[in-house]
Amino acid sequence: MDEVAASLVMLGGKPRLKSKPGRRDMAENAKLKTAAAANDEMELRVRHMHRRDINRVWEFLKLVFRDVNRETVEYQRPRHKARFLETYEEEGVEQLVFEVRRQGKSDLVGYAEYAYEIIGSDSWMNHRYFEKRGMRPLFVEEIAVHPDYHGMGVGSFMFEQIEHAARLRGCTHIVLEVAENNEEALRFYRKRNFQKLDAAIFMSRRIETGGELLTPRRLKPRRPAKA
Ligand SMILES: CC(C)(COP(=O)(O)OP(=O)(O)OC[C@H]1O[C@@H](n2cnc3c(N)ncnc32)[C@H](O)[C@@H]1OP(=O)(O)O)[C@@H](O)C(=O)NCCC(=O)NCCS
Repeated sequence: MDEVAASLVMLGGKPRLKSKPGRRDMAENAKLKTAAAANDEMELRVRHMHRRDINRVWEFLKLVFRDVNRETVEYQRPRHKARFLETYEEEGVEQLVFEVRRQGKSDLVGYAEYAYEIIGSDSWMNHRYFEKRGMRPLFVEEIAVHPDYHGMGVGSFMFEQIEHAARLRGCTHIVLEVAENNEEALRFYRKRNFQKLDAAIFMSRRIETGGELLTPRRLKPRRPAKA
């Protein structure tokens, strides 16, 4: 299914969100499109990922997360291509690609993956946490924007799409995981009112190294014998 849920037109770098077009809007759109060709306008579109996209999206994810992975203890995904291939076959996972059309060419600029259940056997998430609190979450597994397109509204558009999907499914929350030192992403989520739920923090302490064997240690005095 190749449905275009919505589109975002970017003119001169600043995005303008367009709502569902009426008849007059459609005529307006046609005019805009003609002007667009001359103006080098870019249109952002969303569609479901197909099998034929898998390799391209995988390469895209490696590129997007290369710098992020350098800065975080935990891999910010993707870990293995095999897992990514499995995900495509998995029921209940939505994989969306976001493309920019420009002068007849299409560039992959974003990828979003989400599910309505905790997926995969490698998840640390505890579904009871949400059940006990009456939460019905949509879990964002992945959100990635091409580095050349950061700050142009692609991420915002992706989140609008995700929120739209969550509402359609009757979800009460959007839940995601982000590394505390992925500052750009954290700023992005905080601005969109995401709040910390609970977190495992990676802790470390430097170990001072001396010789191979420990230095002599003074013993505690012997406890007096019980009478
Ligand atoms: C986090 C991420 C998805 C945001 O996507 P984006 O397309 O840059 O988001 P937007 O353009 O819609 O918004 C970015 C915000 O930063 C501001 N910004 C300005 N210049 C920017 C720049 N050069 N780079 C990034 N953000 C910039 C934007 O104005 C915007 O502000 P707002 O929050 O007030 O709207 C994107 O940075 C990303 O893919 N990061 C790498 C992968 C990653 O870490 N994913 C999350 C894993 S949990």
